[in-house]
Amino acid sequence: MKKLGSGTFTVAFKHPSSKKVILKSVDPVKRAMASGRLPKSDLFPEVVFINKETHRVHVYSMKHYKTLSSKGIGTFDGIEKLKTVLTPKHARLYKELVLVSETNSEGIREFIEEIRNISNEFHTEREEIIRYAKALSKETKRKLIFEAQPFNVAVENKKLILFDCFYPMNVAAYYN
Ligand SMILES: Nc1ncnc2c1ncn2[C@@H]1O[C@H](COP(=O)(O)OP(=O)(O)O)[C@@H](O)[C@H]1O
Ligand SMILES: [Mg+2]
Repeated sequence: MKKLGSGTFTVAFKHPSSKKVILKSVDPVKRAMASGRLPKSDLFPEVVFINKETHRVHVYSMKHYKTLSSKGIGTFDGIEKLKTVLTPKHARLYKELVLVSETNSEGIREFIEEIRNISNEFHTEREEIIRYAKALSKETKRKLIFEAQPFNVAVENKKLILFDCFYPMNVAAYYN
């Protein structure tokens, strides 16, 4: 399978015949996303559990999104680029989420306090993200950090998809 990208916890491959990606991941957040116990939201992708490769490495499938991944795009350029491919509303939302992630707060309670400050224009999205974050925290039982870096979001029909914006602390990387 052709490798599409990787991060600390996950390696993504192009599925040979479908339009999906196959993820091999040690990320407890992915595991929670595939549990069926998180609230449905258009801001977050559906993750489907396939099987366990080993005790730690679980295999999932997910829709194949267009991402900014690597290809020489720095974080700053990435943020600017994303703003041009999103609807104006989602570009504003993304900008606010980047500011929230720059506060470097650790833990979901701290994150919720920060995201409460985003503009009221996004009250629906804010409540969806808070509900999702709380469920994720309950499901993973981990300390989570919110990081809306360009390489952890995707765009679908000009809408923002937060496919990997919650990061677990104290989890060993894939290759350890
Ligand atoms: N659904 C997807 N569509 C396209 N690329 C993806 C998808 N999911 C992951 N990737 C690629 O794999 C990389 C690692 O996946 P990610 O979910 O960010 O894992 P990690 O938790 O290791 O950061 C992403 O940065 C991206 O390049
Ligand atoms: Mg990532």
